[in-house]
Amino acid sequence: MTFGFRGWDIHIGTPHPFNDRAPEIDNGTARPDPSRFYDPAFKAAEWERMWTKTWLLAAVAADLREPGDFVRFDIMTESFIIVRDTDNKLKAHYNVCPHRGSRIALSEFGTVDQFACPFHSWKFALDGKNVKVTDAETFDPEVLCHGTDMTSVRCESVAGLVFISMDPDAPPLKDWLGPVADHIELYDPATMNVIHHKRSEWAANWKGGVDAFYELYHLHSVHPQTQCVMDDRTQIDVYPNGMSRQFVPFAQPSPRFPDQETVNPGIQMMLADAGIDPATFEGTAKDSRAAIQAAKRKRAAEYGLDYDRFSDTQLSDSTIYGIFPNVQIGCHPEALFIHRFLPHPTDPERFTYDNIILFRHLDAPGYRAWMGLSEDVDTTGLIRPDVVHVPLGVAPELGEVLDQDSELLPIVQQGAHSRGFKGPLWSYQEGRLRHFHAELDRYLGDAV
Ligand SMILES: [Fe+2]
Repeated sequence: MTFGFRGWDIHIGTPHPFNDRAPEIDNGTARPDPSRFYDPAFKAAEWERMWTKTWLLAAVAADLREPGDFVRFDIMTESFIIVRDTDNKLKAHYNVCPHRGSRIALSEFGTVDQFACPFHSWKFALDGKNVKVTDAETFDPEVLCHGTDMTSVRCESVAGLVFISMDPDAPPLKDWLGPVADHIELYDPATMNVIHHKRSEWAANWKGGVDAFYELYHLHSVHPQTQCVMDDRTQIDVYPNGMSRQFVPFAQPSPRFPDQETVNPGIQMMLADAGIDPATFEGTAKDSRAAIQAAKRKRAAEYGLDYDRFSDTQLSDSTIYGIFPNVQIGCHPEALFIHRFLPHPTDPERFTYDNIILFRHLDAPGYRAWMGLSEDVDTTGLIRPDVVHVPLGVAPELGEVLDQDSELLPIVQQGAHSRGFKGPLWSYQEGRLRHFHAELDRYLGDAV
């Protein structure tokens, strides 16, 4: 089968290996039962067969630079501590005291010499080994022989992204990520800093979040304001293990948009971000994207940045990567946008949406804040901003586009219950969704 969408040529500029298409994977044409979006039994099967078996993005290396730096990662009813040990290696432990089961780390990130349980102040080294049992002499030694250390899990890092797995038999992280690992490594996210982190609650199944972020098909309807600055029918690549990517060409109107000539205010902003004065720009909207690519190459040379490793498309566009099961990362030479979708511990019709921006600080005059970041965002990376929490029913205030998604997803969720809906009918434009659900189904097997 030939996927028609993959013939859409979105590239302006010279050929580059990065732009090469991945070999095709045929995920068939079936439609899954919509109960996967609300059935507690499906949710339970996901936990037993998928979440506890796969790799999970738990932290970014930017938050774990020095020994003692730790991040708490919660998923469903579990909580983990990811920490850089004194040997400079990353470790991960269940965030639970072996004494009475209390949570140990209560803050979302921080720096410690050792961990202390808040209940009876048992102490643990960064590697999870017990270093103090309070009043140890009051325990029968055979009680303590059951084990007093924290329980550790697999923890591996690739491209500044830190993953854990509860499965001791999971393949090495880099093998599992496949080509996606090398692609993201190009952006060197380990040298970026977290400059924004917001965690909001949405009234939908976590897969509804993934599905909405994995396709551009809905832009014309939900985000019509993007049509003047963004192509929306673009190359999709799917990789083994549920991974995928898509190109999101910026500064290029969608073919659906009637005016392909005018350098509209949205394109003007993108030109300005690249250091081009829109007032003196003489091209049309058709020329803007190539002009931005050229301007960024020129500016990179001035600032001593190695942009030779990037294709033209990488300079101007967002390249978005889907990392199975619950992450999408929008990659730019200047920054990474991380979207993470976390299931609610008990309610299949709620998820937590983590929105994290990693930014490369550049101490250069005239290098302006980027991609619509407001002027008051501190981009120096000197202070790690707190996680901002937004409860259910409150607009996340993540910008116009994401707020539009947050309003729509509960509406889609409601429809999943209808006796008149038999399951999603995915187009080629939604090929990444089909690929993601096919991988999920492989994990679940005959459980559902
Ligand atoms: Fe959207």
